[in-house]
Amino acid sequence: MSNTPATTGYSSGLLDDPKADPQYIQFKCLPPGGPLNRWSHEVTRGHDYPGAQAMLYGAGVPNEEMMKNAPHVGIATVWWEGNPVCNRPTHLLEFGKIVKRAVEKQKMLGWQYNAVGVSDAITMGNEGMRYSLQSRDIIADSIETVTCAQHHDANIAIPGCDKNMPGVVMAAARHNRPFIMIYGGAIQKGYSELLERDVNVSTCYEASGAMTYGKLHAKTNPGIEGRTPSDVMSDIEHHSCPGAGACGGMYTANTMATALEAMGLTLPGSSSYPALSPEKSRECERAAEVIKVTMEKDIRPRDLLTKESFENALVLTMILGGSTNGVLHFLAMANTAEVPLALEDVDRVSNKTPFLADLAPSGKYLMEDLYKVGGTPSVLKMLIAAGLINGDIPTVTGRTLAENVADWPSLSPGQKIIRPLSDPIKETGHLRVLRGNFAPEGAVAKITGKEGLSFTGKARVFNKEHELDEALSKGAIPRDENLVLVVRYEGPRGGPGMPEQLRASAAIMGAGLKNIALVTDGRYSGASHGFIVGHVTPEAARGGPIALVKDGDTIVIDAIKNRIDMTNVSDEELQERRKLWKAPPPRAKRGVLAKYARLVGDASHGAVTDQWESDF
Ligand code: FES
Repeated sequence: MSNTPATTGYSSGLLDDPKADPQYIQFKCLPPGGPLNRWSHEVTRGHDYPGAQAMLYGAGVPNEEMMKNAPHVGIATVWWEGNPVCNRPTHLLEFGKIVKRAVEKQKMLGWQYNAVGVSDAITMGNEGMRYSLQSRDIIADSIETVTCAQHHDANIAIPGCDKNMPGVVMAAARHNRPFIMIYGGAIQKGYSELLERDVNVSTCYEASGAMTYGKLHAKTNPGIEGRTPSDVMSDIEHHSCPGAGACGGMYTANTMATALEAMGLTLPGSSSYPALSPEKSRECERAAEVIKVTMEKDIRPRDLLTKESFENALVLTMILGGSTNGVLHFLAMANTAEVPLALEDVDRVSNKTPFLADLAPSGKYLMEDLYKVGGTPSVLKMLIAAGLINGDIPTVTGRTLAENVADWPSLSPGQKIIRPLSDPIKETGHLRVLRGNFAPEGAVAKITGKEGLSFTGKARVFNKEHELDEALSKGAIPRDENLVLVVRYEGPRGGPGMPEQLRASAAIMGAGLKNIALVTDGRYSGASHGFIVGHVTPEAARGGPIALVKDGDTIVIDAIKNRIDMTNVSDEELQERRKLWKAPPPRAKRGVLAKYARLVGDASHGAVTDQWESDF
């Protein structure tokens, strides 16, 4: 039976959505507590929109009963061919199909579609990387567009790679309709026979640095003698990505997935179920049941995107040793959801949270190993019991985070991945927000303590990452002098697109250059480690002090006082240099990167393209 008689006009119980943000285009919807086709009802009721209904019958709505009553659930897969890992066809697209079938079992209509993605691994170190961060905003734009234009009543998003997750969450914060995220899951580790050890994608970049500096050798066991460094590289390339799934360390994809689970935006276990596990397929089926609960209880993304849930995200990121990109994406998601989160919150949480996880890139284990000892829910359970994670926050299941993990087993006895709170790797978080005359509006450093807590060195300045990559590939960075390698004009506007600099950071680690700190207004891959500082704000393209630094200036980085300063450059000298500085012409004058460079805000506010004008 239809929800409303077959009338025309707007007298069908539709009202202004009480949970919609008035800054967006407003859509009418049915009140909560009634039929679940709250937004789609506008075009499927009566005969006000006969063309819409004709198209929907053509698209597969089976009968009038379903037309009038069935809720429409958009299933957004961030999928494309050509990336073997995190957006893989046989993987995310297949998950979307499982979700669609499960949605239909719930007597709802599932509409599968895709958003574009960028593989950070394939674009790393080349011009393609400039498109990476802005793909986050394109994903958000795409899902907002389909959800709102098509009057979807809910959205289930299935992302796999770094930017895809904040992208789908930013979309959810904008449309603010019931939403669940299913993480595509992490990849299994590979094995190199020539190195005789486990390998993953970041091994490739570190091996490249090791090869340049003559440190890449095959093991010399019987049967594998006489192999060249090039043979070893080939072996690593062949075996680092053995199947579907996101990069396996606590890099950005797993940082975002674990954080979003701690925020209550996924089903429990989503972030640690491997991509090819049976649990991942079951999660896809269960998501369809749970989205119905989310719709019935009118749980909206902005009910879950709160200061408390972002605090959980930050705590878990510190505990697990997550990526600097997490900071950028948390700020962006909070900005979109209009939650007053700032760099000061990152600092505050970092100061009170220990670093516990022996996970790559700075540690030994991968997500697959964490899954085997209990996974993210077991970690959350431990942290809720310790009072570090807020278990009272609501989640997509309609239960609290603590209730979601209550029945989960504790971390396996004797496991070595998560250290006890009484014996942390570092007493405070590894992500530090630095300020000083080099970065007056902030910079984000990843300092695990393994390379020390402070660094002083002479600046060596590169105006683009490729200049540094060239110097590294020629072995032109000496070992006998403390150097701060500054890579500038790689910020959100200047890059444009704030490219990740894993190629350089990994080459430095692979070459064993312990005399180096790396500083940039660009960003780093989650796989980057070493003494690294990114997101320097204001960026060089906006005339920040990073544009004024010269070769030979002394830079002091202090991760205890949270400072980064040019200590031998006076304010007067900086003023003089500023008078001579001229902004370089934009690198992209047309196209998506030019549009992005015109719109994007600074990294200290998440580098978003539709900045929330708040005064918090
Ligand atoms: Fe996508 Fe690593 S390149 S998760």
